[in-house]
This record gives sequence, structure tokens and C-alpha cells, in this order.
Amino acid sequence: MKILMASSEAVPFAKTGGLADMVSSLSRALAALGHEVCIALPRYYGIDKSRLKALEGAMGVPMGGGEEWCAVLESVLPGPNGKQNKNNVRVFFIDHEKFFGRDGIYGTPSEPDFLDNPRRFTFFSRSIFQLCRKIGWYPDIIHAHDWPAALSAVYLKFSERFNNFAKTVSALTVHNLGYQGIYSRDNYYHTGLGWDVFYRAGFEDGNMMNMLRAGIYSADTLNTVSPHYAEETMTGEYGFRLDGVLRYRSSSYRGILNGIDTDTWNPEKDSFIPCPYSAKNMEGKSKAKKALQKEFGLEPNADVPVIGLISRLTGQKGVGELFGPAYGSAYPICRDMNIQFAILGSGESWCENELRSLSMRLPNLKARIGYDERLAHLIEAGSDFFLMPSRYEPSGLNQMYSLSYGTIPIVRNTGGLVDTVENFNEATGTGTGFMFNDLTPDAIYNTVGWAVWAWYNRRPQIEEMRKRGMKKDFSWENSAKKYVIMYEEAVSKTQ
Ligand code: ADP
Ligand code: GLC
Repeated sequence: MKILMASSEAVPFAKTGGLADMVSSLSRALAALGHEVCIALPRYYGIDKSRLKALEGAMGVPMGGGEEWCAVLESVLPGPNGKQNKNNVRVFFIDHEKFFGRDGIYGTPSEPDFLDNPRRFTFFSRSIFQLCRKIGWYPDIIHAHDWPAALSAVYLKFSERFNNFAKTVSALTVHNLGYQGIYSRDNYYHTGLGWDVFYRAGFEDGNMMNMLRAGIYSADTLNTVSPHYAEETMTGEYGFRLDGVLRYRSSSYRGILNGIDTDTWNPEKDSFIPCPYSAKNMEGKSKAKKALQKEFGLEPNADVPVIGLISRLTGQKGVGELFGPAYGSAYPICRDMNIQFAILGSGESWCENELRSLSMRLPNLKARIGYDERLAHLIEAGSDFFLMPSRYEPSGLNQMYSLSYGTIPIVRNTGGLVDTVENFNEATGTGTGFMFNDLTPDAIYNTVGWAVWAWYNRRPQIEEMRKRGMKKDFSWENSAKKYVIMYEEAVSKTQ
């Protein structure tokens, strides 16, 4: 099959979170199964133009106010670790100075959501059809990711299908319902679509326009990134007001768990850690722990459990309950328990400030503010436990990295965390992690306390648990095959 991925992020070119990892890994996995895959991505300033090949001629994209002209640049998706990729996935960059020639993907710290985002991503979603015409390549599947690319499903259904794309079907993956692209209706003008389509495609959201909602209504097939989150999103609690629309589309909606890139995230080949290791020989893990303690200025002590955390510092990740000044559980955990806490993250400024302050007040909590790939690997390898108290978690990648690195996850019972972590059961000697239900500072405190108690009192069981986690297979191949089934079903229904 010919598959075009339309996404606002893809590693190594542009990343704010797991979406970028997912798009590139899935593309590689599909290519390895023999499919022809291309990725379309906006060309932000962060992407070095000098390394890309420019296609000849400008490309006009019809928008509400007339054509917008852009250039197209081309490259090849490198393999994991930047190595040459044997399954050529081509990447096309839409280069439009006014829309993408600036720092930031969706915004900057001073302007977190660029005012013209609806226009920028409407343009991007429309540009992919012109791109296909330009390169003379008509895909069987246009696979859009999240709200920034969701309008490509709308354009296909209401305009392009009658116009060269009769055999193409659209797939939409929802990575995070917390971001829907809800903007003033004034922006609808930029789509160039009639007002009848506004209502028929499902843009209407009170007196606003909702880009993800329109994508969900219009896509031929859709999914989210874990089976449990798929169920949750059809409830009022987790649906972010789109639960009704998702229930309406439920016969074409499913959950497919993300995989992880086992070349990049693999303790046996990880070049960021002092010494590789495996379940058979864990010596390298002790070395990583020592290196982590040194790097973070924590007391070098093999007996004290290290808890790691790597996260975007935002409400979704439970950082309020964990680090909220005066009520968060991190302070009492570090005060009452003999543990060390190593944190890496960036995000909301109150949280960054609180982490700086906690690092000064507590000798056993150290935080690094920022984005650091190398440190992320060192934390995964050197920690004994990994904390993810997410409010909601569509899939989550870090808990899968943790399991592969023999680092025991402590997670909330939600979303993809349920599909990947099994709660510890002392009596039956089963489980790969520790879980709690309610997102409250007390629940986090008690569950971390339970894990720490097990560390000091049930050590053989902890070692067994690590090994059970390391045996889990989270490679992409299985999930990629499920996407192929999803595509095939959509193709057979549409034709
Ligand atoms: P989300 O996409 O919701 O942020 P995921 O668990 O799917 O959550 O993916 C997060 C990805 O971003 C992981 O690859 C994680 O290691 C990485 N990450 C998040 N914050 C940082 C950071 N500060 N430094 C390095 N990597 C980070
Ligand atoms: C989103 C979700 C995360 C998921 C990622 C990749 O950012 O928050 O849970 O792993 O997308 O699908």
C-alpha cells in the first residue's frame, strides 16, 4: 500500500512529545512490512534547510483568500540512532515562510498557541494534496495525526475525493483529546470550504470551530493509541466533550497500542549509558545508577532506591498532585521515605519554579529543567522505579521504556498505562509495576510508599518483577500490522 503520513511532528525533525516518536517509528515499521510510506511535515525554522533537497518550482495551495505559495523540500527518514535507513521513507517538508518560518511548532513560551495556528494547520492539511499532485504520487491512505493534520480528512471527503483522489481513504489517529484545535469561527474562512461543509463535516462546537471534531466526523477510519484509552474516550470523564462524537463513530474507531523503537530504547545497545546490560547480566544497570546519582548530585548509594520521572510538566501528567506547592506529594515522599528522586522535564513555569525550589530544599530530590535526550536514557537505565501519575495517558511511551530497562513503573490506572503495566500481586508473585486509581496526593504517596516498602522488605520479588518487565515485547511490528488491518478494512468499505 501507499501511505502518506500527515503530521506536525516527526523525529528527528520536530518533536514536542511522543507523537513525533510514534509517527517515525510507525512509518519505519510499515516500510519494513513492504509498504511505500512518505511523511509530510511543515518545515519549521528548527529544521536545517541546507540538508534538504528542494523540489523544482513553487507550489500553490488553494485557501479561502486565494492561493498560498510555498516550496517543497525533500529528505529521507534516517534510521534509529541517525543511521542510514534501509527502508527508504521519504519525508516532504512544506516550506512556507509566513506560516512556518519562526521558532516553535505550536508556539513559544511567550505565545504558547500562535494566533494564526488554525490558518497555519489548515494550510498544511490542504497542502498535502497539492504535494501528491506535484510528485505524481497518489496514496491509498492519507494518515493524519491529531488536530493539526485532521483537516486533510475533511478535504478528502468534501472536495479532493472528486478530484484525483477517488481511491484514497483517510485514517485519523487521535493522540491526545486534550488538544482539539478549537478556534473562533472567523478562521473557517481560510479553509475555502462552504458553510454547508462547516455543519456537515462536524466543525460546529458551540459558537466555535473545532478542527479535531471535524476530522473525527470525516475520517474514513480512526483510532487512538491504546485500547483502554479508546474505551475511556467514549465516556464523559475522559472524552473532553467529544465522547458523543466518538460513540457515534464507534464502529470505525479502535485503540492500537503504540510500540517503542527497540533500536533506540534498548539497554543492550544504548550508547547513552555507561555500559550495556540485559536481564541476564544487570551489572550495567548498577553502573547506570551510579552515573545517574553522580550526574544529579545525589549521594552515591546502591541501597537507596532511585525514583525517576521524565515528563512534559503539564496537568495531564499529574504534576499538580505531585509537585503542587504546599499540597503536592513529592515533598512528604522525600521527607518521609529513604529514597532519591531524579526528575527531568520542562513545561508550565509554576512547576519548573517549584522543582527548582524543591531541589534546593530537599537533599534527595534533584530536578533538571529542560529537554535532554541523553539524560532521559540515563534516568530510564539508572532508576529503580519510574513514576507516571498521569491524569490521562493515551498510550505513554516512558512506562514501556522503563519496563525494557528493568525500571519498575509506578503508574495511575488509566489509558495506555493499563494496557502495558500489570499491578504487583505479592501473593501470586505476578505483576510488572505498582498502580493506583485516584489521582490524589495521598494515593501517590501511599503507592510510592508501597513500592519503597517492597524494595526494602521484598527484594527478591522486586528483582523478579524487573525481569518480567524486561521480557515484554513492545516492538512496533505487531502494532504496525494492526494499522495495516485498519487501512485494509477502510479501503474495502470505501470502494
Ligand atoms: P507525551 O507525548 O504525552 O509527552 P509520551 O510518554 O508518549 O508522552 O512521550 C514522551 C516522550 O518525550 C518520550 O520519548 C520522553 O522520553 C520524551 N520526553 C519528555 N520530556 C522530556 C525531556 N524533558 N527530556 C527528554 N525527553 C523527554
Ligand atoms: C500523546 C499522548 C501519549 C502518547 C503519544 C504518542 O502525546 O499524550 O500518551 O504516547 O501521544 O501517541
